[in-house]
Amino acid sequence: MRALIYDPAARHRVRFGDVPEPVPSPSEAVIAVEAASLNFGELAFAERQLRPGQLLGKDAAGTVVQAAADGSGPPVGTRVSSFAGTGGFAELRAVATSDLAAVPDSVGLAAAAAVPAAGATALQAVRRLGPLLGRRVLVTGASGGVGRFAVQLAARAGAHVIASVGRPQRGDGLRALGAAEVLSGSTIPDEPVYGVIDNVGGPILAQAFGKLCDGGIALSVGWAAREQTVIDFEEMRMLGGVRRLEPFCVSSPFGPDIAYLVERLRTGELDPQIGWTGSWRHVHDAIDALLDRQVNGKAVLDMR
Ligand SMILES: NC(=O)c1ccc[n+]([C@@H]2O[C@H](COP(=O)([O-])OP(=O)(O)OC[C@H]3O[C@@H](n4cnc5c(N)ncnc54)[C@H](OP(=O)(O)O)[C@@H]3O)[C@@H](O)[C@H]2O)c1
Repeated sequence: MRALIYDPAARHRVRFGDVPEPVPSPSEAVIAVEAASLNFGELAFAERQLRPGQLLGKDAAGTVVQAAADGSGPPVGTRVSSFAGTGGFAELRAVATSDLAAVPDSVGLAAAAAVPAAGATALQAVRRLGPLLGRRVLVTGASGGVGRFAVQLAARAGAHVIASVGRPQRGDGLRALGAAEVLSGSTIPDEPVYGVIDNVGGPILAQAFGKLCDGGIALSVGWAAREQTVIDFEEMRMLGGVRRLEPFCVSSPFGPDIAYLVERLRTGELDPQIGWTGSWRHVHDAIDALLDRQVNGKAVLDMR
């Protein structure tokens, strides 16, 4: 079958190849992939996540062609969306039934493929912040995949959401998604915030941590800036009170979170924010756009 392979010598370290079809474990179903979406981490930090020759692809949606041998998960013919570390950018994917969810008939597979990694990360980060009703929450890198879901989900949880983006155009649509304020130039608000969902790292994380109110919490979700984060703890001590800064990592099982997210797509309460779409034959164009910070939200590949 055709698949996208991690190859350090290839353009963007991604190339097409012919590989054996996956052999599922008893708790895995096999899906015929119809749509997939790119994630910054699997491209920018591929060498940390993959060995040369491994298949790329965290997010993939399609139709079950082989149900799990242990009887878990949906039957053949079910449309599903899935999240795993590798193997989504292929004609067939074997994936744990605990990490997939059925997609309602009225939800397109492109939209369903946009949500797993970025949506589950945003959802779990919002939950990690705790009760948000009436609290100020800063989302950095709000223009991207995780950011656009985090804005929607934090607003849904009742937060006053402040979205921080690099350039003004990167903030397009964020108010409609629930942001109360949009700051460009990768800046942070003047007034204190209760929570931070930081997708960027580096100086903006250090500044955001310094803006937490007493009892506030900042989650280091991502490192898109790829710059070191230097925190002046002496300055933080002078503020008094208690502030937390936590490294955050999304965790499995993903199935229940994907189910929640695709149901919100069905009801129209969540927008997939697809900023680039095209055939997987043009995957290098999609990667160019994503890494050049041209995609507002998710880049989705048509895998047919
Ligand atoms: N901890 C976890 O479990 C977890 C899970 C998923 C993703 N992540 C991480 O979270 C981060 C965001 O992921 P994503 O999928 O939302 O990525 P994305 O769609 O590419 O969004 C990243 C955003 O970061 C901003 N950014 C600032 N400096 C940048 C730079 N030098 N290069 C590129 N972007 C820059 C960009 O916004 P502007 O152009 O507006 O500045 C961009 O929209 C990544 O670091 C990813 O690895 C972590």
